[in-house]
Amino acid sequence: MKRSVIIGSGAALPRNAVSNDELAKRVDTSDEWIRQRTGIEQRYIADADETTASLGEAAARKALADADVSIEDIDLIICATSTPDNTFPATAVNIQHRLGMTHGAAFDMQAVCSGFVFAVTTANTYIMSGQADRVLVIGAETFSRILDWEDRTTCVLFGDGAGAVVLEAQEGVGLSNDRGVLTSHLRSDGSHRDKLYVDGGPSTTATVGHLRMQGREVFKHAVAMITDVIEDAFAATGLSADDIDWFIPHQANRRIIDASAKKLNIAPEKVVITVSQHGNTSAASIPLAIDSARHDGRLKKGDLVLLEAMGGGFTWGSVLVRW
Ligand code: UT7
Repeated sequence: MKRSVIIGSGAALPRNAVSNDELAKRVDTSDEWIRQRTGIEQRYIADADETTASLGEAAARKALADADVSIEDIDLIICATSTPDNTFPATAVNIQHRLGMTHGAAFDMQAVCSGFVFAVTTANTYIMSGQADRVLVIGAETFSRILDWEDRTTCVLFGDGAGAVVLEAQEGVGLSNDRGVLTSHLRSDGSHRDKLYVDGGPSTTATVGHLRMQGREVFKHAVAMITDVIEDAFAATGLSADDIDWFIPHQANRRIIDASAKKLNIAPEKVVITVSQHGNTSAASIPLAIDSARHDGRLKKGDLVLLEAMGGGFTWGSVLVRW
């Protein structure tokens, strides 16, 4: 049977890192509060010339080089983002053009922090149905542009960046030791929309708006939702926490990550944590974490990797993939 194997990854960050102490000079906060509550030490903030599309393009170029394929080999580009360069056209189409691709198709995926998990699942569906052989999946964000810098309960949490992977159709035998995506599980529930949302948009205020979050409410639901879709992944494959080599969760808050891993009995040394360096980069956080685990030598071919995310909507999901 066909499998969608991840054959390359790449990442790009804005040039400026901003530490908690630097942030505390313009926001009523402290390094101690941010570290204790979230595990964040610094985040990257895009300059005016750095956009979701430019960061996404840079990450995509690295992923293509890492996969040793050219843009001619790609059939489809999916860009997960909630901070597009323009309301339309899609940032994916902008990146397609920047990469010099005039064939195939490109579209954006909007599932906020779960965007990368939704995009990988969609790419897998295209590959499994034979509609694409190679898909470039990008998670790219400039959340700094939609933050209310007067609201210390949100502005200290987020950062900018992009990551990308290339998925390729390869033959497997249908067992869990195949390389590629083994299973994925997506969920959403719009009844939670007012717990994490942006208070603007083309059709309501005709403005971009600012991110609003009831942090405690989000926190309350996060661990249960995350563990539910991971248990679905284990049930679908017969695999368990013991089989996992790397747990690469969405990087929103160190406490949520630790609590989820503990509830699932995933050993702390198997958890990839980058929230300390990047803050919450929404749809970019998982591919940024993937890329750092690959380049520091942790993540190797054949490893079993569990991806999960939860975010605005609410949306949440898991992907189990053998590297
Ligand atoms: O990406 C997907 C979703 N996002 C998340 O996963 C975020 C989920 N939520 C969280 O991570 C946490 O709820 C936060 C990190 C956002 C907040 O942590 P908390 O422990 O829930 O704190 P809190 O909101 O209950 O605030 C506690 C106190 C308050 O002061 P009082 O009322 O106790 O005097 C806040 O005013 O901390 C104060 N506070 C701050 N103090 C310094 C809130 N933000 C800050 C700040 N610096 N930046």
